Amino acid sequence: MRAILLTAALLPLVALGARALAADAPPSPPPGAGLDLINQRCAFCHNSAQIFSQHKSAAAWAATVDQMANRGAEVSPEEMKTIVDYLSKNYGAPEQDTAATPPHN
Ligand code: HEC
Repeated sequence: MRAILLTAALLPLVALGARALAADAPPSPPPGAGLDLINQRCAFCHNSAQIFSQHKSAAAWAATVDQMANRGAEVSPEEMKTIVDYLSKNYGAPEQDTAATPPHN
């Protein structure tokens, strides 16, 4: 009897937990030439989820991809551009940095 009551009390919590987990799951990356390249060139040293959890400006993405090339990622300049375009379009930094700065006049 006690066990049944306990189970009944816990069920809603379990349901809530499952919903929270589903909400936390990152959306899958949108398809594109950039994604194909990332899967081919970037995902063998680390999980691509590590890449898609970041948000950076185009300049910061370019710096990251450059760094990865120095580490051993084999990307041509053309591929680098495709990857940086893809990442800054889909995983860009919010533009609030400049908007948050109060105007000077
Ligand atoms: C030769 C191995 C290697 C390859 C290939 C590689 N990476 Fe990395 N990457 C690393 C290592 C090691 C780290 C962790 C060290 C660090 O954070 O600087 C890392 C960390 C990162 C991070 C998290 C740190 C940060 O600076 O934001 C991102 C994002 C990233 N890599 C993106 C990429 C992308 C995009 C590519 C493909 C162009 C790529 N990586 C290919 C080795 C690699």
